[in-house]
Amino acid sequence: MLQVGVNGYGTIGKRVADAIVTQPDMELTGVAKTSPNYEAQIAVERNYPLYAAIPEKKDQFAAAGIEIAGEVEELVEQSDIMVDTTPSGIGAQNKELYEAHDTPALYQGGEDADVAETSFVARANYEEVAESGAEHVRVVSCNTTGLSRLTAPIREEYGIEKVRATLVRRGGDPGQTGRGPINDTIPDPVTIPSHHGPDVNTIFPDLDIDTLGMKVPATLMHTHSINMTLESEADAEEVRELLEDESRLFVLSEYLEIDGAGKLKEFAMDAGRPRGDWWENCIWGESITVEGRDLYLFQAIHQESDVVPENIDAIRAVTGLADYEESVATTNETLGIDGRLGHTDRPDREPQPISR
Ligand SMILES: NC(=O)c1ccc[n+]([C@@H]2O[C@H](COP(=O)([O-])OP(=O)(O)OC[C@H]3O[C@@H](n4cnc5c(N)ncnc54)[C@H](OP(=O)(O)O)[C@@H]3O)[C@@H](O)[C@H]2O)c1
Repeated sequence: MLQVGVNGYGTIGKRVADAIVTQPDMELTGVAKTSPNYEAQIAVERNYPLYAAIPEKKDQFAAAGIEIAGEVEELVEQSDIMVDTTPSGIGAQNKELYEAHDTPALYQGGEDADVAETSFVARANYEEVAESGAEHVRVVSCNTTGLSRLTAPIREEYGIEKVRATLVRRGGDPGQTGRGPINDTIPDPVTIPSHHGPDVNTIFPDLDIDTLGMKVPATLMHTHSINMTLESEADAEEVRELLEDESRLFVLSEYLEIDGAGKLKEFAMDAGRPRGDWWENCIWGESITVEGRDLYLFQAIHQESDVVPENIDAIRAVTGLADYEESVATTNETLGIDGRLGHTDRPDREPQPISR
């Protein structure tokens, strides 16, 4: 069993930890954080060994009555690989600690690309990363993951001349009360392109992509407005079928009557998904439109969870635990990514549950 440690137990870290414990080939060594808040309490209730990320703050855990297993350095020592899910910039500072123990590490999209030898999106470059022998790998951000998952099959099937994407981004995660209260709609950044296009180029170096970013007062999900000029003619129905065949793209059928992120989250919660998570890109089927060689669509990206299956696959890619097909199949099965509910309007497919 591969021993996996998680440093940073917040929005992403707690989801990655929960995913690790459901994997048949991994064991969660423990999780580390700096303070004894409600998330620390849940870690203890789930029997996740909890480590103090900052040794000087160890006493705060004792004062709160929360038992810890030790200091983060011990967690690194005992782990075969670390998943760093600390806030942006802290991962780069932690790199020295992982290197000192010769422990491979994954970093998140908030870190600069050069923190790692390579960036990762399973659908785009799993085998390449596995073969490279890279030990420090960055799982790209939620938006870059969403854009890359969509790009990969379309590029393979039609070729892409140019991508133009406008990203309407949530102002903060539900727990980030510090980002509000807010009431505004802002170009963010006002300069073009936003950082997302160059970030997608860490996955597809030669892709011609321009991205524009906006921020709105919402917490649920991001929404992308996509236009891709393809290299060859396409048909909207064929594009839809292509996307429906991708396990991490969930094409929303019209009959579901999902008109926004609110209903999407409600749908996931009704289906019994943990925390109402959407690990897949959610693409509105009726938005898939082709005019000549121009493809248009809308997709919603759940910022808190789409990178979770990617982290699990990246663990296997870096440690050589499995090949691409096997890893994705195992991750999908254990998380419950079999999202075929939106396909009932296709006579050749049986409706299936969207969760375990
Ligand atoms: N949230 C998103 O939408 C999202 C999506 C994709 C990627 N990401 C990326 O994922 C990374 C983590 O983001 P997040 O949203 O999960 O952050 P978060 O919710 O703020 O969680 C960060 C966690 O790291 C802990 N931490 C803080 N300083 C630490 C340190 N020095 N050492 C170890 N742990 C420390 C925090 O613990 P305490 O609370 O105890 O301080 C907290 O548990 C960032 O790179 C971010 O850009 C975020």
